[in-house]
Amino acid sequence: MRLIRVKDYEELSAVAARIIAAQVTLKPDCVLGLATGSSPEGTYKQLIAAYERGELDFSQVRTVNLDEYVGLEPTHDQSYAYFMRDRLFDHINIDLKNTNIPDGMNPDPAAECARYDALIHSLGGIDLQLLGIGPNGHIGFNEPGEAFSLGTQQIELTASTREANKRFFASLDDVPTHARTTGTREIMQARRVLLVASGANKAQAVKGLLSGPVTPHMPCSILQYHPDCIVVADEAALSAV
Ligand code: GLP
Repeated sequence: MRLIRVKDYEELSAVAARIIAAQVTLKPDCVLGLATGSSPEGTYKQLIAAYERGELDFSQVRTVNLDEYVGLEPTHDQSYAYFMRDRLFDHINIDLKNTNIPDGMNPDPAAECARYDALIHSLGGIDLQLLGIGPNGHIGFNEPGEAFSLGTQQIELTASTREANKRFFASLDDVPTHARTTGTREIMQARRVLLVASGANKAQAVKGLLSGPVTPHMPCSILQYHPDCIVVADEAALSAV
């Protein structure tokens, strides 16, 4: 695991965007695993800026997003499908047909999860997986539990994650109770992982990520075993290490 210490969110976003830009430049048809949440938003802004300066071409890039809430239409402004268009896809020259997000509306969870795993496989796997991190150490929506997850699956969100994400909804009751997420296995199979962590509320999770025991109770800790994992973290996120 390689740790890049940065001062703040702005520097974090610039560093992470440069790593993604290098990937796109070196392999124009690469498969990017993408994340949502506030952590990667600044990175996406930097990528848009690089595209607008004429430095990046996304026309051949393929993407697979980590996760989606169950029960939110892609047009819902808190769906991750909406987030990706709003924060990145609508601002670069990516072909929307090359972008993929789990379908949170498919009434058959097992079929949807199997479809998504087959899709990742058919793309040849993920070249670079961008990750945020939950305050409880979740990656994607792989919540703390008794075992690391294998394959895309529908999960029940923990109370703490719903509480953490309620800031985006009108009330806690509006936060979906379930989500579909690629598994820890799929994240670990990405050829490179890039995790960005910012802010003091991530400090305990970052401690578990960097130096805690590898345990499914701290899902991010498995990344200690990844052969090419880069962590970009700011001073606040590193305050417990
Ligand atoms: C969300 C997402 C994760 C994200 C995490 C942290 O619920 N499913 O992919 O990394 O929680 O979110 P944020 O970056 O907004 O703190």
